Amino acid sequence: MNSFKIGSVVVETPLVLAPMAGVTNHAFRLICKQIGGVGLVTSEMFSAYAIKFRDPRTATMIDWTDEERPISVQVFGGDPETVAIGARAMQEAGADIVDVNFGCPVPKVARSGSGAFLLKDVGKAREILIRARQVVSVPLTIKTRIGWAEDDVTVFDLARTAEICGVDAITIHGRTASQGYSGTADWDIIAEVKKRVGIPVIANGDVKTPQDAEQIFEKTGCDAIMIGRAAMGNPWLFSRITEYLKTGIVPPEPDYSMKLVTAREHLALLTTVLGATRAAREMRGHLAWYIKGMPGAPVLRNRLMTTKSVQEIEEVLDEARSKC
Ligand SMILES: Cc1cc2nc3c(=O)[nH]c(=O)nc-3n(C[C@H](O)[C@H](O)[C@H](O)COP(=O)(O)O)c2cc1C
Repeated sequence: MNSFKIGSVVVETPLVLAPMAGVTNHAFRLICKQIGGVGLVTSEMFSAYAIKFRDPRTATMIDWTDEERPISVQVFGGDPETVAIGARAMQEAGADIVDVNFGCPVPKVARSGSGAFLLKDVGKAREILIRARQVVSVPLTIKTRIGWAEDDVTVFDLARTAEICGVDAITIHGRTASQGYSGTADWDIIAEVKKRVGIPVIANGDVKTPQDAEQIFEKTGCDAIMIGRAAMGNPWLFSRITEYLKTGIVPPEPDYSMKLVTAREHLALLTTVLGATRAAREMRGHLAWYIKGMPGAPVLRNRLMTTKSVQEIEEVLDEARSKC
């Protein structure tokens, strides 16, 4: 478990929390940091267009604090000038690293020529990176997939282009855009990219357990790994991986009561950050992940669906505790 560097930023542990819209806001990032094991946390993605037009809702997403550092902040956009404005604004707002999204396949994002669409147009990606590099002095990274479709794997070209443009690291989710989340992540292609570029490569896709983490490191030779879905309702995964890679012993999962205590802290933090109404809405998803596998979880999940306030969610938490 070596530390690694992204440009000038030292990342103490090579485990990265993936950017996840609707999930990796301040509350969840802080919970992960407090539990430990995670070297770098990443924000939800920011639309460079929304930043450019000073969208007030986007401004509320600038929510990081010093306890989270180093923090990487992700932007997406489809034209060089807009991405440059967004990237520069995030640097000025205190991002330690600015990441540009070249991997989001969601139609709303790809349709605007942003995200994974840029895997189809490496020339445009290059223009975006040249301009972003001109305006951003903190480390600049990209996160991408392996290509648009199985017969259109462009990540090798994109990774070399990024390196030439002065990008400091590249994260690769080993699926194509058209795969969405189906099938499995192709770690072999990530390994091949790692061989072909000199900048740090962060491998992403399908790491669910400490043993998966060991395998993806071995198979890809990558500098770090990024974890998304498996961390949801499971912020202990990073410290369990750290422990396993140090000792070879898989640490036990936290017991249900510890999970519920953390869920309660998460709810309190969300309420502070988002206000009660939005916190209640967002916590429904998180809590469903925290209670996964607990006695009575299906009934609790159904009850959660109808909750509208923080107090009602706390009642579900009380009920969960009584069942454990
Ligand atoms: C709810 C959710 C939101 C996501 N939002 C983003 C995002 O904002 N930016 C991004 O680059 N990837 C996003 N992703 C993709 C993840 O960062 C990650 O690449 C993907 O989930 C694969 O990693 P995993 O197998 O560890 O989950 C999102 C994924 C999920 C499940």
